[in-house]
Amino acid sequence: MTVTSARITPVSDACGQADPAPGADPGRTSEIDTLGIDTQEIAAQHRDHVLQSWSVSGGPVHTITRAEGIWLWDETGRRIADMSSLMVCANLGHGHPRIAEAIAEQARRFCFMSPAFATEPKSRLAARLVALAGREHFARVMFTNGGAESNEHALRIARTVTGRTKVFSSYRSYHGATAGAAQATGDWRRLGAEQGAGAGFVKFLSPHPYQDGWSGEAADAAATERALADLERQLRFEGPETVAAIIVEPVVGANGVIIPPEGYLPGLRRLCDRYGILLIFDEVMTGFGRTGTMFAWQGFGVVPDLMTFAKGVDNAAVPLGGVLVSREIARFFEEHPLPGGLTYSGHTLACAAANAALDAYEQYGVLEHVAQTAPVLADFLDRMAREHECVGQVRHLGMFAAVELVSDREARTPLVGYRSSDPVMKRIIGRLYDRGFSTFGRENTLHVSPPLTITTQELEQVLPILDEVLGWVDREMLPARRAAAKDMED
Ligand SMILES: Cc1ncc(COP(=O)(O)O)c(C=O)c1O
Repeated sequence: MTVTSARITPVSDACGQADPAPGADPGRTSEIDTLGIDTQEIAAQHRDHVLQSWSVSGGPVHTITRAEGIWLWDETGRRIADMSSLMVCANLGHGHPRIAEAIAEQARRFCFMSPAFATEPKSRLAARLVALAGREHFARVMFTNGGAESNEHALRIARTVTGRTKVFSSYRSYHGATAGAAQATGDWRRLGAEQGAGAGFVKFLSPHPYQDGWSGEAADAAATERALADLERQLRFEGPETVAAIIVEPVVGANGVIIPPEGYLPGLRRLCDRYGILLIFDEVMTGFGRTGTMFAWQGFGVVPDLMTFAKGVDNAAVPLGGVLVSREIARFFEEHPLPGGLTYSGHTLACAAANAALDAYEQYGVLEHVAQTAPVLADFLDRMAREHECVGQVRHLGMFAAVELVSDREARTPLVGYRSSDPVMKRIIGRLYDRGFSTFGRENTLHVSPPLTITTQELEQVLPILDEVLGWVDREMLPARRAAAKDMED
């Protein structure tokens, strides 16, 4: 997608995102809503010159000309609901005037200052973040430009503090695309980054009760017990005294909004304490109200030693991320130099944007708003699970949700398998987009994570599109999938 206005948040990752419908003219210009932008030329330049994240380059592309609230406008001049907050980052919606004004005001003073200097936006932001996460737990923050760099530095900090090298992370995870973050990543996106490097990255299977076949009342307890026992066994085989950190997303995001079964995160905390391992929560996607609390761990009552963040911290207005460290780790770095740093650590414009975003989270009562609207989303998705054969499970926490699609509900057969090149999800996401519902998906899950500011009325207006498209999957796709499966059996 192409972004052509300073008020619009960039969309860089086309992974699982909608292509223009076959036959549609991706460059069609509307004189009304494309603000005089030649969308045909913009789309062509993108196709010809942009290397596309996680995708083959040169394919069809939508051009975004304007974004406001939950809405995006594309080359057709139509408005489309952003039901994924782009990459789960525009938590406050688009075109937020206070954030734009804060950036402009800071730019008029100065845009950037070296990390060694104190600036008002950076100092104030650091103090506010520590307060939000709890001064009783955290003391300092290292600022970065995004999620991957945050995880990269969190791992380095953990290794430095413990003097150990190994890092445990889940196969069901995404932690970013830079070397260390990509090797900590569990899903297939790590494979291109491993390339022989990366000693000390160990993967384990975190629980996914639905895909692991658990059902019924005791499912959570059984899934938790099995997962923790397996992990402890694996730690023993690896030598726990060699393990610096366990890094997990408290709610797994890109890999399908997997909510940890009850007791799992406390169990991880206990294992870390037992073996002197640091617990890192990657809150890049879950942070800043997404799951209904400011940080997801606050909803689970489990405090990590390090917490990484990005995306929602400044509503994705300017690249910004960071690592919050415990009081104990902060003390360590009052006696030892930090083995890391970035030119743009604590970039002034980004910190100014983040202060304005934090003001907005507070002043608009975003957490209270999510408490009111999340049940509307939850009730709708629960109904989808009851009414549509193609829905295996829906998962939701706050405004963080996913629909897991299956071809056989009884057998829980995923509609597409892991790492499958089957284009079916792309077709479904494309159909949603064409009807005005923009989101992304991974493997066999569709994400539904709209801006936290979405109103009940907007939810009621947009969610029926998902209902209609799931009905189309039931009718048009499942019979063919079942017939193909039967042919394979015969
Ligand atoms: C949980 C998590 N960690 C890290 C990242 C990487 O963030 P970035 O793309 O800003 O480097 C992402 C990106 O989606 C993420 O979801």
